[in-house]
Amino acid sequence: MKLFLATSVVAGVLSVLPATTATAAPLRYEAETAPATCSGTIDANHSGYSGTGFCNASNEVGAAAQFTVNATTAGTATVGIRFASGTTTARPADIIVNGTRTAATSFEGTGAWSTWTTKTLAVQVNAGSNTIRFNPTTAAGLPNVDYLDFEVTGSGAVGTGRPNDPNIQYYGRWDRSNASFYSMGWAGGYLDARFTGTSIGVRQRNAIDLFYSIDGGALQWRRNVSGNVTLATGLSNTAHTVRIGYRERAGSYNGDPVFGGLILPSGTQTAPVTRPANFVEFIGDSITVGQPNANRPFAAYGWLAGEALRAGHTQVAEGGACLVSQGCTGMMDWFRRSTSRSTTDDWNFSTYQATGVVINLGTNDVGHGVSGAQFQQGYIVLLERVRRAYPNAEIFAMGTFRNRYVPETRNAVTARTTAGDTKVRFVDTTGWINSTTDLVDSVHPSEAGHRKIAQRLSPILDQYL
Ligand code: GCU
Ligand code: CA
Repeated sequence: MKLFLATSVVAGVLSVLPATTATAAPLRYEAETAPATCSGTIDANHSGYSGTGFCNASNEVGAAAQFTVNATTAGTATVGIRFASGTTTARPADIIVNGTRTAATSFEGTGAWSTWTTKTLAVQVNAGSNTIRFNPTTAAGLPNVDYLDFEVTGSGAVGTGRPNDPNIQYYGRWDRSNASFYSMGWAGGYLDARFTGTSIGVRQRNAIDLFYSIDGGALQWRRNVSGNVTLATGLSNTAHTVRIGYRERAGSYNGDPVFGGLILPSGTQTAPVTRPANFVEFIGDSITVGQPNANRPFAAYGWLAGEALRAGHTQVAEGGACLVSQGCTGMMDWFRRSTSRSTTDDWNFSTYQATGVVINLGTNDVGHGVSGAQFQQGYIVLLERVRRAYPNAEIFAMGTFRNRYVPETRNAVTARTTAGDTKVRFVDTTGWINSTTDLVDSVHPSEAGHRKIAQRLSPILDQYL
């Protein structure tokens, strides 16, 4: 094996963010830049790499890529390793931290040598300098390695603006397992924070449509942004609030709805924001997501009603969803998941308690041949599951706007009331919207239609919440 010790004119210089931002962003260490080492060659023949090249380690056991990183404190660090592999066979490697094998990983094929992806790992580090070595355990060697992002994330310091900053309030079903990027499930998730100073930004990963508002102003879109995104500059040098949310992943849209932390004005910290006493989950299908309107999720009735009530809110909803899982995403089951893409009932209901749950389901079950009896039985099961998840929530079962399974919905509510549930109610939506003027197609309310629905729904919710 030939050992190539990377030396470069920029040796020792890290790619860091401008010194004017105090940020949650990790430091980036390029594989071609010393003190990184590469048991192979530094190549530049496959596009898409960062810096001046990437490490093409030799195809053999032990032909490693090694990074030397600096940790501000000891603790758990989040490591993002960017790589490409044009093969279909995964390439396993040991992770060796400061000379000790601490874990193993495997680099799957990325589809092409010019298609780069980032794998996120957690490692324990000491304060100061640490080596992180990827040591291949098969004759295939490593994939091509572009860089390593490194950040100590295990301390959870208050005020940092990092995803784990307890001053940041999250609404909706967020996956917090990656300390660098919290990931929004379903639709209509958002976060609120308070900061001081003249600018604010947010750290994203891959491209996403995000929306935000400053100081409770109108929500605005930033479409197709990635990396460090400046949201506002030139603000008054005082305290401000910011809300950030993301477009839902759905259909062919594969945006990356993750929050990687706030980019705060230099030398500043976040401060606590008040979390409303009420939190309402709206369970439904495309109507509840707000599709196909451009300003979904925040032009949808659930968002509008939640705001009118000054409650927190989210849309546990997906286009095409049904109540019953019969060739369809059946929300009686999927309700228990963190996203529409989860394959297990992975949502941890102790993360938060909803005080209100609004269900709007049945529009799509017809197309999947669900019988009235099946629907009614399934609805009872959903109501039972919601009750188990949220013992004190007020539950509202809306009649569908197209009048589908309305008697069954009503009967299911009655069954639960008879069984002793005193906080479940049927909501009659007859006449709320006009099917000739308030729909964008034959099914989905326009933004004006959503406003009408919210105006009818909010006072009903308000009576009980
Ligand atoms: C190809 C590719 C290299 C890669 C190598 C490998 O030769 O061009 O960049 O490192 O395969 O299989 O490791
Ligand atoms: Ca190689």
